[in-house]
Amino acid sequence: MSVPVPVEDDLVQGDRVEVTVGAPAHGGHCVARIGGPHGRVVFVRHALPGERVTAEITELHRGYLRADAVEIHEASPDRVTPPCPYAHPGGCGGCDLQHVSDDAQLRWKTAVVREQLERLAGLTDFPVRVEALPGPADSSRLLGWRSRVRYAVDAADRPGLLQHRSHQVVAIDRCRIAHPAIQELDLLARAWPDADGLQVVASTGGDVAVLVSRSPLAGDDLTDGPSGPGLVRLSGPEEVSEVAGGRAWRVPPEGFWQVHPAAADTLVGVVLTMLRPAEGEVAWDLYGGAGLFAAALAARTGARTTVVESSPIGVAAARANLGGLPNVEVVAAKVDVALSRRRVAGPVDLVVLDPPRAGAGAKVVRAVAEAGPRAIAYVACDPAALARDLATFRSLGWKAAEIRAFDCFPMTQHVECVALIVPA
Ligand SMILES: C[S@@+](CC[C@H](N)C(=O)[O-])C[C@H]1O[C@@H](n2cnc3c(N)ncnc32)[C@H](O)[C@@H]1O
Repeated sequence: MSVPVPVEDDLVQGDRVEVTVGAPAHGGHCVARIGGPHGRVVFVRHALPGERVTAEITELHRGYLRADAVEIHEASPDRVTPPCPYAHPGGCGGCDLQHVSDDAQLRWKTAVVREQLERLAGLTDFPVRVEALPGPADSSRLLGWRSRVRYAVDAADRPGLLQHRSHQVVAIDRCRIAHPAIQELDLLARAWPDADGLQVVASTGGDVAVLVSRSPLAGDDLTDGPSGPGLVRLSGPEEVSEVAGGRAWRVPPEGFWQVHPAAADTLVGVVLTMLRPAEGEVAWDLYGGAGLFAAALAARTGARTTVVESSPIGVAAARANLGGLPNVEVVAAKVDVALSRRRVAGPVDLVVLDPPRAGAGAKVVRAVAEAGPRAIAYVACDPAALARDLATFRSLGWKAAEIRAFDCFPMTQHVECVALIVPA
């Protein structure tokens, strides 16, 4: 059924318009235009490039709209039936690409990474391609991988996952992308009075831990409990065992660890291949967490290796896990402060940068460049932040010599990149 296009300024939330969908954009949606090639931009979820769809407007913004594809008139050959029954407009917002075939998810993410590199870093046609992580070669790789899951709990004490861009909790029976050991737990059929959320971890070493979080109540001593503000361990060990980079690790379940079981090993291998650490080379592992990259570098260089990490949980984990390695120092500080206060200062040969989603930022990039390493490996969970920081490196006379990208978060829009940055 063809839908009349309302006059642009008359649009309201809930209106339906028929559009032809264009390229994927950063954020888990495709770009379309209402009213022709120069019309208003609308970011459409649940759609694929080339499709003719009816899109229901979900948000109106100055300069763009958001919408969900609610009827598909001409389907892309890359469209599949979502394996999860909660992945639909108005359903669970945890996955963006359940309707996209395995191979097309890799192409989608490749297009997004290339577009971000071109637009934000001026790198045209950079030869990067998003690769699947080691594991099943068929589409079963898309499910059962998520080793860390956060369920939300609503005001009626029901657990579930959040709708897209909303605090609305969607009740689910199980999350199909969660690790099988997490799906097996009987957490979602129960009510959780007083809880805000549940954090569940299934580690590569075979441990399963469940933490309950809740907002502090007056006189509540949970707020300074050992697991962090408002977190109570319900079951599982105080530290879960992980295996990566040829080592066994013990990390608290509430601390940072790569979410896909194959990610930590893959990223360590790529960082080592890119940096080619040699004996005697001094290294920094900035935003180091439990010291995943520091351990691998120190084992090869035998030289001074410094981890900088700001979270107390990460610092304690790094000190406990790296304690046996000579020449490794763990500095508890924000990276920008450690560098500007010269708590960590050059000369340095090799740097790993693995910042959170916001990226390292210009101040850290300048300080790292000034320290004059031979090579930098930048591990990035947001291609936009990577591209912005690459632009800063470029302005300082550095270049991206190689970029690899991995599908560490199948079914979601997220992608992990590793860039080798060297003096131009
Ligand atoms: C993406 S994780 C990487 C951790 C580690 N490299 C790994 O792969 O396991 C980012 C880490 O940076 C830490 N972090 C966040 N902001 C920071 C800052 N400004 N300075 C230092 N560490 C920070 C977080 O606590 C987290 O451990």
